[in-house]
Amino acid sequence: MATLYNEKMAAIYDAMYQTFVDYDEEYTFYNNLLAANNCKTVLEIGSGTGNLAKRFSAHQMDYIGLDYSKSMIKIAQERNTTCPFIHGDMRDFNLDKKVDAIIITGRSTSYLTTNDDINETLNCLWNNLKKEAIIIFDFIDANRFIPFITHNKAIIHQAQYENVNYLRESNWETTDMENFMLEWNAKYYTIQNDEKELISNDFSTVRVFTLNEIQLFLYLNNFEITQTIDRKTYAYDTYVIVAKKKAKP
Ligand SMILES: C[S@@+](CC[C@H](N)C(=O)[O-])C[C@H]1O[C@@H](n2cnc3c(N)ncnc32)[C@H](O)[C@@H]1O
Repeated sequence: MATLYNEKMAAIYDAMYQTFVDYDEEYTFYNNLLAANNCKTVLEIGSGTGNLAKRFSAHQMDYIGLDYSKSMIKIAQERNTTCPFIHGDMRDFNLDKKVDAIIITGRSTSYLTTNDDINETLNCLWNNLKKEAIIIFDFIDANRFIPFITHNKAIIHQAQYENVNYLRESNWETTDMENFMLEWNAKYYTIQNDEKELISNDFSTVRVFTLNEIQLFLYLNNFEITQTIDRKTYAYDTYVIVAKKKAKP
């Protein structure tokens, strides 16, 4: 299922996403939702290289990060020496103490490619939440993304970080559309004196979702949606869902 970010990819990811993503805005967005729901303790899944962790801990939030990639956690831990990070899989983890909120950030849901992956994850979230606690997660909207990549075969993103120019060329393959799964080939380059140098060639299988299927997955796993937010991120049209843990019938 998920791509494991190795050490080189984690460092490239960290450099490039600092310019793609406005992490201050990202923090404010999630923090406002957490505050509106009176959440005092939060687990971030897909905590990546710890950019949100840094902001949550600077604002004294009781925060834990969890990620599947050891290389991403290593960078996150160096960035946030006092924050706890768990190396784990969102489909199967056990926290020592249940939390008020679990957030899955930065479209990390895209790596849940099978229905089993999604059901296992939602079940696991349910088990690690306090009564009536909430989950917040985003996902790429299939209804907008699939037409977009059908018409735009190569998608270019450029970024500059610490005086290095980066370019990412994404190619999306839609031929095997089981579960709206897509093959994503991302080529990362540095650019110096107008010369492109390939630094990494990354292949991953990701899944995009329709809002309807997410609604049904949540219903079947005992969550009640309280908010659906249509949100454009740097490259994707996403929905963000806020849902409350319900008692099992
Ligand atoms: C696109 S990155 C987003 C990172 C971060 N939220 C950000 O916005 O910069 C997706 C992250 O999800 C993690 N991930 C993928 N599958 C996972 C799984 N099954 N359990 C936990 N983390 C996972 C990856 O290792 C990666 O760090």
